[in-house]
Amino acid sequence: MFKVAVIPGDGIGPEVVSEGLKILDALEETTSLRIRRTQLDIGSSRFLRSGELLTEEDLSVLVKQDAIFFGSIGDPRIPTGILEKGILLAIRTRLDQFVNLRPIRSWNDYSRLKNDKPFNIAFLRENTEEFYMGAGGIFEGGKGRVSLKIKRGLYDLEMDLNASSSNQDDYAFEIGVLSRKGIERFADYVMSHAKRTGRDRVTVVDKANVCTNLYGLWRDVFRDRARRNGIDLEFIFVDAMAMALIRNPEHFGMIATPNMFGDILTDLGAEIQGSLGLSASGNINPIGVSMFEPVHGSAPDIAGRNKANPIGAILAAKLMLEHLGMPDLGKMIEDGVEHAIEKGIVTPDLGGSSTTFEVGDSVAEFLRSV
Ligand code: NAI
Ligand code: MG
Repeated sequence: MFKVAVIPGDGIGPEVVSEGLKILDALEETTSLRIRRTQLDIGSSRFLRSGELLTEEDLSVLVKQDAIFFGSIGDPRIPTGILEKGILLAIRTRLDQFVNLRPIRSWNDYSRLKNDKPFNIAFLRENTEEFYMGAGGIFEGGKGRVSLKIKRGLYDLEMDLNASSSNQDDYAFEIGVLSRKGIERFADYVMSHAKRTGRDRVTVVDKANVCTNLYGLWRDVFRDRARRNGIDLEFIFVDAMAMALIRNPEHFGMIATPNMFGDILTDLGAEIQGSLGLSASGNINPIGVSMFEPVHGSAPDIAGRNKANPIGAILAAKLMLEHLGMPDLGKMIEDGVEHAIEKGIVTPDLGGSSTTFEVGDSVAEFLRSV
């Protein structure tokens, strides 16, 4: 029996999460899978009612789970950033989910690329350090002192910066920090994931030709970990990677990237598949509680109309089962999605006329029939 917290969230979140749960229902009927679900009311409506974002009580429930199944958050009535930082980033940071896994693959004829060679790439992105750690500030008038305190699962880091400039301009900065231990645990996960999924080569993205300090350490650690694990490494600069994803995505099997480049490249990856609605991601802490979600947001423009593509959420359920040690069930879900797509049971974002429910029903029927 697995324990899973379900956070449907806002906008299309509840619509797509209920299709993901429909798939888990079908598997519980036909296999030995058993999941005890705990639904949590976290998101915009509770925030508007009570001002609460992620509470300590929520966290005390989340830490007891085997996994979290998350929809999406975001509401046009609330300024951007409040829910995203206060809930989503808070969960990722508090639960120290230091790997972001985002598979991208081609689906039949829906790829946006003229090159129609099939591709299937596991993107692994470091999820807690570098330019997204919130270590920034402004030296107003070109001078001053900024003390930065960074709290992570691995460490507490304090940095004091003093500025003096030749003029009185304002200077804004955002520091990207990579710790050796932070890179090591990420690289270890990359190597183990490569072995688990039968890959013997990993492509590592960076910009080591310009940010030599940051990505110099990054490369050293990756070389060491690859050697220990017998995995071939290929380093590629992020600008070349952007080009290669369009030109020959079929060349890549597993791509490891630092935080910010990974954010950008995985949206590009999601889009070449055909629709943002097809993408799923896992926020992983291999020794803690991981969270699985579709990549898209709350899509207020189509919410409540049974139009949202549920495949991202369904594939998030697949990633969750794989993470919980059931790759066979994950494969069955992916086969079910392939089956629906081949039959043309797809939502309007892919040019189809099926509803959210119909796509979910089609995948669930497939699972009951095999
Ligand atoms: P979005 O991903 O919600 O929507 C972007 C576009 O893609 C929209 O036109 C939408 O209709 C379409 N789209 C998204 N998912 C779809 C699906 N499953 N099926 C069909 N079409 C789909 O991103 P946007 O509009 O930038 O943000 C809306 C809200 O969501 C904001 O509040 C934002 O902060 C939040 N957000 C939350 C995320 C999360 O919970 N992980 C991630 C991204 C944004
Ligand atoms: Mg993004």
